[in-house]
Amino acid sequence: MMQFQGSHILSVAQFDREAVSRILDVAKLMIPYASRQKRCHVLEGAILNNLFFEPSTRTRVSFGTAFQLLGGFVHETVGQESSSLSKGESLFDTARVISGYADVIAMRHPTMHSVSEFAEGSTVPVINGGDGANEHPTQALLDLFTIRAEMARFGKGIDDLNIVLMGDLKHGRTVHSLSKLLSLYDNLNITLLSPEALQMPTSVIDSLENAGHKITITDKMAGNLQSDVVYQTRIQQERFSSKEEADQYRGHFSLNKQVYEQYCQQHTVIMHPLPRDSRPEANELDVDLNDHNNLAIFRQAQNGVLVRMALFALTLGVDEILHKHEKPVTWFSNKQLSE
Ligand code: CP
Repeated sequence: MMQFQGSHILSVAQFDREAVSRILDVAKLMIPYASRQKRCHVLEGAILNNLFFEPSTRTRVSFGTAFQLLGGFVHETVGQESSSLSKGESLFDTARVISGYADVIAMRHPTMHSVSEFAEGSTVPVINGGDGANEHPTQALLDLFTIRAEMARFGKGIDDLNIVLMGDLKHGRTVHSLSKLLSLYDNLNITLLSPEALQMPTSVIDSLENAGHKITITDKMAGNLQSDVVYQTRIQQERFSSKEEADQYRGHFSLNKQVYEQYCQQHTVIMHPLPRDSRPEANELDVDLNDHNNLAIFRQAQNGVLVRMALFALTLGVDEILHKHEKPVTWFSNKQLSE
């Protein structure tokens, strides 16, 4: 079993199936705390430094929320301009300094492999919140948690599923990390649906094929959405050389109620890492599906808190003692989470 305590979480390549199961199981233990049935102050006195050098809503806020739900304190640095990185300080020096102020660090950076470079200078665990077009391991874990939870409603597990990954598969780091995790499971049918120019990197396809999964590569929605899960991604405009270049690919894979009813199965679960691009020209994942029971996107985002709580508990070595630090909730709350 992987040694979590004191480890950096930089890539899904660190995990075997047993390690992933452990993370998802600890995440499930967090439901009573995240849904405010109980409190848990197991990390009281601990400090998280949240370093986000690229825009984020879900990852940054859910890392902070997760740490606070376990009783810890959160410091935030947002944007390179507010860091001495903008004065030429190296990632190594920044890491060595910040790790002197914190017990754990979560970091997002626009450059591929930058979080690993940073971790080399850190004396405390570093968790990758997304490094350019490379990886987003915590998103992949929450995606897998979501697939497991959503499929349980239909009596299915993760093995043997039909999964469609759709959109900008070239630049979407969430689908890169998720695909690598799916390589740990058995007998999947995976459809990679994208414009030819935005296809999944060959190395990721190779890892899926080496796992024995059946891979279909296509640029057509018709006939290819009859799956258990459709995972849509945004055109990652920030990774193109211009908005005009990104605009060429918008609207190719618009998913709305009419498309869902025409091409998907009755039980097809719709996922998206978010943010979805809701500007009319993006024509991506339509709001007319917002009330559909199989639209899992907001449950998926909520699951990010559980998975990040689990990673903090595991890397800081408190996953076995959560129950010893429980307290009652004293305020009104009707928050509900489900697995
Ligand atoms: N899914 C995700 O990474 O969202 P943010 O960019 O808002 O963190």
